[in-house]
Amino acid sequence: MFKKVYSGVRKIIKEIVKSKQEIRHALVGAPNVWKYTREFQFQFLIDQGLQKNDTLMDIGCGTLRGGIPMIQYLNSRNYYGIDVRAEVLNEGRKEVKDAKLENKNPNLISFNHFSDLAIETKFNVMFAFSVLIHLEDKIAESCFQFVSESLVVGGVFYANVNIADFQDGQWVEFPVVFRSQEFYNNLAVKNGLELEVMGDLLGLGHSTNKNSDKQQIMLKFTKI
Ligand SMILES: C[S@@+](CC[C@H](N)C(=O)[O-])C[C@H]1O[C@@H](n2cnc3c(N)ncnc32)[C@H](O)[C@@H]1O
Repeated sequence: MFKKVYSGVRKIIKEIVKSKQEIRHALVGAPNVWKYTREFQFQFLIDQGLQKNDTLMDIGCGTLRGGIPMIQYLNSRNYYGIDVRAEVLNEGRKEVKDAKLENKNPNLISFNHFSDLAIETKFNVMFAFSVLIHLEDKIAESCFQFVSESLVVGGVFYANVNIADFQDGQWVEFPVVFRSQEFYNNLAVKNGLELEVMGDLLGLGHSTNKNSDKQQIMLKFTKI
């Protein structure tokens, strides 16, 4: 009898924890796919050869929907996450606590402008998942300047983008931008980066039955 009640209570607690995460990660995307998106981001980086001793910068890390398994995998202090929404990053801090990963000492930094950032660490890997699609042109330019200054030679920056001639949209307080590949070619050339098109998210295993799976392309920029 006690066992039955105990397992019932555990089940309810599990449900509450799940919905708490759904509410949290709804700040960065559709609540029903947060776990899928988390696993995709981590698996993608592992497939690209992410090593435990790499130093990783997760630009626009938000609630750490993607960041948690990266923090878990990397050596202590090697994960950096930055975001412009301080309150959303605070949810990320709670996510670290809930995942009992405080001992991994992730560096979580909120900021307003890329030019304000004063991070001395240089990175082997930089990542921006579903972030460049929300940056106005001027902000994208300063983002690439920051990436170029922060990558070691041979270091890589992965980012998914919308390559299409569609009308821009809106997601919370940010735009949803569609651009030509030339826009990114130009930014790469200007900032000493070599651009490789990795293909659409669907081809990389991101299958959520949404148009964005096909529409979004993953780009890889290598610092030369
Ligand atoms: C769609 S969410 C993706 C969050 C996270 N990368 C993930 O996949 O879970 C986009 C994030 O980019 C952040 N963002 C928007 N503009 C930004 C900027 N200029 N610099 C850094 N982050 C920004 C937003 O606050 C938001 O957390």
